[in-house]
Amino acid sequence: MSDTTQPTELAEPLFVPDADRAMEFARFCPIYTPTELLTLEDNGATVFVKNESTRFGLGSFKALGGIYAVAQLLSDTVEAETGVRPKLSDLHSSDVKTIAATQTYVCASAGNHGMAVATGAKLFGARARIHVSSEVPSSFATRLRERGAEACISGSTYEESLEIANKDVLDSGAHLLADGSWAGYTYPPSRVMEGYTVMARELKESFLSSGLWPTDVYLQAGVGGLAAAITYIIRDEWKVQPRIVIVEPTAAECLALSAKAGKLVEASGPISNMGRLDCKAASLLSFDTLIRSDVEYRSISDADAQHAVDRLGELGLGTTPSGGAGFGVWREEKKLQKTAGERPLVIVSEQALD
Ligand SMILES: Cc1ncc(COP(=O)(O)O)c(C=O)c1O
Repeated sequence: MSDTTQPTELAEPLFVPDADRAMEFARFCPIYTPTELLTLEDNGATVFVKNESTRFGLGSFKALGGIYAVAQLLSDTVEAETGVRPKLSDLHSSDVKTIAATQTYVCASAGNHGMAVATGAKLFGARARIHVSSEVPSSFATRLRERGAEACISGSTYEESLEIANKDVLDSGAHLLADGSWAGYTYPPSRVMEGYTVMARELKESFLSSGLWPTDVYLQAGVGGLAAAITYIIRDEWKVQPRIVIVEPTAAECLALSAKAGKLVEASGPISNMGRLDCKAASLLSFDTLIRSDVEYRSISDADAQHAVDRLGELGLGTTPSGGAGFGVWREEKKLQKTAGERPLVIVSEQALD
């Protein structure tokens, strides 16, 4: 399906990221390095591929959000308790560690966001409890536990694990650090999304130095945090403007349906093989950002997402249907000789799973 929505009268935007702050944090991390931007030849076109499978050694771009958000929330707590906001270089001090040891960050996750929150908590000496549904590959629970997090198998869908995480926080008083947002709950996810802006800055730098800008950008969406954060920076900062396509599984078109309805509405559909994109309810911040932006929406079937994975594998890139969905939509558009331009940018958003 396709839809472009540009309302004229809206309240203030809910998501206004500070990409400089996110970049400063990324550069402060000793292992930070921009992920590679590959140039592949496929279907007679040059395809830019931002390869997020190596991000911070965690297997997906989500590492940019959760770690940064833990640092921000912890800094808020330290500031509230001591009256002084810690500098980045103070985050590993014993004073901050003493406070961090009393903090627990909780979230529901389809896998990758939980990995990022768990890593952030471990890095700064806090605790993390991650709720994953029984549909999430078991390798995630193993990797979460290796990072010192408590991994709970909660419900059989992402939405059920979200409900259980919300109840956990009410009962325990821990911090909810979700990547999705809703009315009355926007601050922690806005920090998560702010972290993702680093990727759009890295891309901007690459295109500025080569002078070759993409014609079309394909952004896969679950709750829409990635898509909204990147769209914001593209529209705000990029010198040469591409067409932007938001990509969702046919089984979970929550952003497209919401854009069409002009308000948040839920998708209903079967379980998708794009597990990390299979969110039936969009993030309020993402919806609010995208509805103000010039974007189009496309959905992709499970079969086409798998074809994309197979083709990327032939081109030497291992990923999952979630990671290859953007590439899949570009290939489908190209096959139909529709609007796709000749220099697409896609994001391979995660590594292949065991
Ligand atoms: C690999 C991967 N790609 C894309 C997404 C979609 O990101 P968002 O939920 O911010 O839309 C996710 C979300 O977990 C993911 O893990």
